[in-house]
Amino acid sequence: MTEVTLAVVGGGLRGLTYARRAHATGAGRVVAVAEPDPGRRAAFAAEFGIAPERVHEDWKDLAAAGRLADAAVIATQDRLHTDPAVTLADLGYHILLEKPMATEEHEAAAIAAAAVRNGIMLAVCHVLRYTPYTRVVKKLLDEGRIGRLVSVQHLEPVGWWHQAHSFVRGHWRREDTSAPMLLAKACHDVDWLVHLFGRPPARVSSFGSLSHFRAEERPATAADRCLDCPLEPSCPYSAPRLYLGCLGDPESEFWPLGAVTPGRTEADVLEALRTGPYGRCVYACDNDVVDHQEVVMEFDDGGTCSFTMSAFTPMEHRRTRLFGTHGYIEGDGGTLRVVDFRTGAEEVMTVDEAGGPSAADGHGGGDEGLTDAFLAAVASGDATLLRSDAEQSLMTHRVVWAAERARLSGTVVTL
Ligand SMILES: NC(=O)c1ccc[n+]([C@@H]2O[C@H](COP(=O)([O-])OP(=O)(O)OC[C@H]3O[C@@H](n4cnc5c(N)ncnc54)[C@H](O)[C@@H]3O)[C@@H](O)[C@H]2O)c1
Repeated sequence: MTEVTLAVVGGGLRGLTYARRAHATGAGRVVAVAEPDPGRRAAFAAEFGIAPERVHEDWKDLAAAGRLADAAVIATQDRLHTDPAVTLADLGYHILLEKPMATEEHEAAAIAAAAVRNGIMLAVCHVLRYTPYTRVVKKLLDEGRIGRLVSVQHLEPVGWWHQAHSFVRGHWRREDTSAPMLLAKACHDVDWLVHLFGRPPARVSSFGSLSHFRAEERPATAADRCLDCPLEPSCPYSAPRLYLGCLGDPESEFWPLGAVTPGRTEADVLEALRTGPYGRCVYACDNDVVDHQEVVMEFDDGGTCSFTMSAFTPMEHRRTRLFGTHGYIEGDGGTLRVVDFRTGAEEVMTVDEAGGPSAADGHGGGDEGLTDAFLAAVASGDATLLRSDAEQSLMTHRVVWAAERARLSGTVVTL
């Protein structure tokens, strides 16, 4: 297969993940990067052997150099997707764009329009669509194994420490600097559920709030930082317990520890917890995104879906129950139990290749599946290797925005 050349915008955790996969398989080679953080930039350039003249501080410098590669990976933070995506699409790059596409609906629409206008392939990183597990679930549905899909019950178990890490102390804690949590986190689930149903819902409603990680919940004797707190040993959200516990495990050192500090010693971690955002008490942060949310969707044939996103779980794979007219499927991200109402027979299927659920272990094989599919699509010019295009992703993002409008207005929103 032809080796696809890549320009990476944002040499952070996600940029690294895709670049490493491309190099590991030999399907892609990074030839340019834009990354403002000097330490990250130097490490990224060294790891992938990028020529010094192709190592840029900002995506605008990279764009100013014209089209440097077949495709671009855009892995900047949520609010910095639109300008690079539109500009690089206009330069003719195929694009692998991190989710959410954008934080505003009109921006996501501009990105989709740029992809169509330029005839490029643009894949949004909805990695769940690319897991081996999803392939099996979708195939069972498409084969009619459970008849017509009538309703779905879906749980996204965010995980107590993952919530604290990303959505209380971390990058995605505030709507004004990132996005509502449904967009920042669960746009994956909404996209996946729409993928299973094969069409967008007709109506949505939603409830949810920030119930626990707020000042009113703070114990009287808690300190502002875990390292000064007398309650730290008994607190479920202890930062020292979480981050010191990552040391020595390469996967946990990459994520979540990689967001906290580039250092890998106890002294590095303690310094980051003493001075940085990840050492703060979870009840004394400036977070405002929800810690639990429900979305209910109704489809044009009366089919329904209820989706729960909750912080108050272990961090594990999503769990889903699919109720069909002729059968039932229950799945936990690795194993599927399929019951056929015609025979009463029950089959248990295990998807062997399914990895763990977190970013450290590739989102159940989704990170690898997406990277491989994108590179294969660019190499062959065959867009059908992608499980969604820019316009489909825009459509599923629109469902998220509709659900957020429903939650905030206490209404049922018709799409
Ligand atoms: N698909 C998934 O499952 C998944 C998982 C986690 C995160 N994400 C998304 O991926 C994106 C990146 O997340 P991350 O965890 O890698 O974040 P990160 O902060 O580790 O990486 C973002 C990088 O962008 C760089 N950057 C900032 N300004 C820039 C500029 N002007 N030009 C070029 N680079 C610039 C930052 O310095 C940083 O290194 C976010 O949108 C996030 O929501 C997706």
